Amino acid sequence: YRNLRVALLGAGSVGSQVARLLLEQGDEFASRIGARLDLVGIAVRDVDAPRDADLPRELFTTDATSLILGADIVVELMGGIEPARGYVLEALTSGADVITANKALLATHGPELFETAEQVGAQLYYEAAVAGAIPIIRPLRDSLAGDRVDRILGIVNGTTNFILDRMDVNGETLADALATATARGYAEADPTADIGGYDAAQKAAILASLAFHTTVPLDRVYREGITGITKEQVDAAREAGAVIKLLAICERLTDPETGEEGVSARVYPALIGRDHPLAAVHGAHNAVFVQAAAAGDLMFYGAGAGGVETASAVLGDVVSAARRHVVGGPGVAESTHAGLPVLDVGRVVTRY
Ligand code: NDP
Ligand code: HSE
Repeated sequence: YRNLRVALLGAGSVGSQVARLLLEQGDEFASRIGARLDLVGIAVRDVDAPRDADLPRELFTTDATSLILGADIVVELMGGIEPARGYVLEALTSGADVITANKALLATHGPELFETAEQVGAQLYYEAAVAGAIPIIRPLRDSLAGDRVDRILGIVNGTTNFILDRMDVNGETLADALATATARGYAEADPTADIGGYDAAQKAAILASLAFHTTVPLDRVYREGITGITKEQVDAAREAGAVIKLLAICERLTDPETGEEGVSARVYPALIGRDHPLAAVHGAHNAVFVQAAAAGDLMFYGAGAGGVETASAVLGDVVSAARRHVVGGPGVAESTHAGLPVLDVGRVVTRY
């Protein structure tokens, strides 16, 4: 096998799981891709900080720039705008493909990053940036590219869904539930991004831009968070047969005043009837409904936050980037290697 050099920026909740899985599943990835993924280093702030996974000490460095130079694939899991933006640009201009889960960066500097990638012939992958483990970027960008998306409605922030759920089901306070969400690695480094609705607004900007083939700037997304939601409101909703959920709504609309056609993206806490499928989205799970002209209604559901869950989406992008290096094209080619053997096990009775 040929070796592909993978540089990881960040080893927090998500990065430490990406590194662990890359190291543990190296052989399997190699046969799936036709190349070996060589994790050449992990850039962090503090090389001695405790990690969620047991990773070789010699992989850690504080010198991200040196790590990026010479890498084939750079995985940015630091979060925040700077220095992440600078490192992503350095990586792209050095010819590396980049994978990021950084929705704050994409929602504010997406056009600059995508233009740079296009100019240098590199790819920027970001499946993990919206709704954690749930595949939603590829379906919108690729599978639905021949359809017309009219509306997206979803729960796209795991932390706030976890908090509202705990307030509803367990009677917890917002502060207590947020502390648990943070301890579980769901929340952003500054959880104001979650409870203030900023994270969901960034995701709405990304989804709306993709779905409607336009650029929706973050400052055009209407945003309200859940900071003002009280236990009394949660209880009142329950008594009325409803539940409060932080929704992201992206749709094609006609301005009622001007008659102008356009798109709208909005994030705010809304009352949902208990019989609505979104009411059944518990914990840090997310759900995204997509209404498309030809396909009709589609629903995407699963873990919206969490280190290992999000690592799944990141690694899917790493495999795509690696396949691109091996076979060319956008990186979605079938593996040319033999898969698992076919077993003759007769009748298998499984209860689902
Ligand atoms: P964490 O805060 O847990 O980890 C961030 C990592 O980046 C740490 O290892 C930190 O180093 C490193 N880092 C931060 N700033 C710098 C810097 N200036 N120079 C070098 N290293 C730096 O973040 P998460 O893992 O939770 O999130 C990573 C990204 O993934 C974010 O963009 C987030 O929005 C996104 N995301 C997170 C999800 C989740 O469930 N947590 C889900 C989906 C996306 P050190 O450890 O030394 O401090
Ligand atoms: N803080 C984010 C959330 C992580 O809770 O949804 C996933 O993007």
